[in-house]
Amino acid sequence: MTFPPSLRPAALLVPLAAALALATAPAVAQNAPPVKVGFMLPSTGTFAALGDMIEKGFRMYVQEQGGKLGGREIQYFRVDDESDPSKATDNVNRLIKRDQVDVVVGTVHSGVALAMARAARESNTILIVPNAGADAITGPLCAPNIVRSSFSNWQPGYAAGVMATQKGYKRAVSIYWNYAAGQESGKGFAEAFEKGGGKVLKELTLPFPNVEFQALLTEIAALKPDVVFAFFAGAGAAKFVKDYDAAGLKRTIPLVGSGFLTDGVLEAQGDSAQGMMTALHYADGINTPRNNQFRTRFAVQYKLNPDVYAVQGYDAAQILAAGLNAVKGDLKQRDAMLAAMRKTPIDSPRGRYTLAAAGNPIQDFYIREVKGRENLMTGISVKVLADPARGCRM
Ligand code: BEZ
Repeated sequence: MTFPPSLRPAALLVPLAAALALATAPAVAQNAPPVKVGFMLPSTGTFAALGDMIEKGFRMYVQEQGGKLGGREIQYFRVDDESDPSKATDNVNRLIKRDQVDVVVGTVHSGVALAMARAARESNTILIVPNAGADAITGPLCAPNIVRSSFSNWQPGYAAGVMATQKGYKRAVSIYWNYAAGQESGKGFAEAFEKGGGKVLKELTLPFPNVEFQALLTEIAALKPDVVFAFFAGAGAAKFVKDYDAAGLKRTIPLVGSGFLTDGVLEAQGDSAQGMMTALHYADGINTPRNNQFRTRFAVQYKLNPDVYAVQGYDAAQILAAGLNAVKGDLKQRDAMLAAMRKTPIDSPRGRYTLAAAGNPIQDFYIREVKGRENLMTGISVKVLADPARGCRM
């Protein structure tokens, strides 16, 4: 894959930059107070479980490092954002102004994350986004102090479109919650699907977090497409997949999606999800020593199998560690710290990746199939997929 110069991964510059920073950094870490990390995540509502997995993943990585990053203890603060964009500015300011955190980590919901990105730009606070895919965060709102450990909404939508094209489907209907994540996933899907010769007949939407799907399922039955693409996540995804099956559609029209449709919710979906195919930057059963070690440790520590959200939380901590290690915990060396956060390759359970100049992961997208209680990897949809970062000027 080729990249325009402004988006080219700068991983090759890392060793020199990191070595220089380490050589010149004073050993401030020993007597310095803890680095304050503020989690802004949902702990109530449709996305509560997703927020919980992100925090678990983040904390596990810090514990693996002996509780310190760059030689400094980590002190946690937390705000429940309720996945409510109307409360987002007040909520993020609780962390930035009241708690005076050094770094904000959040969130799940794109609409909430957009407000957080604006607040981070205004206050110059470091923001690591561990899920929300709003394209604008690494597009028009991109900034040196903002990075993402997850994806842009365009990416998994595009990868699902490639997957549907490879399966030979020609006529699709899309269905999603009508906010940035759904709209941008739908756009990514349509871009790849139509490039591959398919046509999206209709986009059906409902407001977030509404789960009254019946009227839309009736419309899908009437339209009779070859395939349905859906973006839902968390508790809403669990209900959608069950309702789709109960309406008798699973037998006649294949349902595909970005992998959020089946990640972390397979227990709740039961037989309704069996055989479903999705595309995502993580899958169960990636058989690498790194992923196997991560999954074993997570299962031992939390008595749970990790999901994509846990991986993204874990990697958010890895990105912060890359920055703090480069400056030996000296937050005053801000530019060197931010540069290292952006340029250090991340040794993720999903596979190694780098961040583009705009701050979004350049990563492989897997094809997954639900078997039992796992989203098993069955192939690759797109390798090293970079978000186009439209509108990012830095
Ligand atoms: C989002 O709002 O960006 C989002 C929420 C859940 C899963 C994936 C994306």
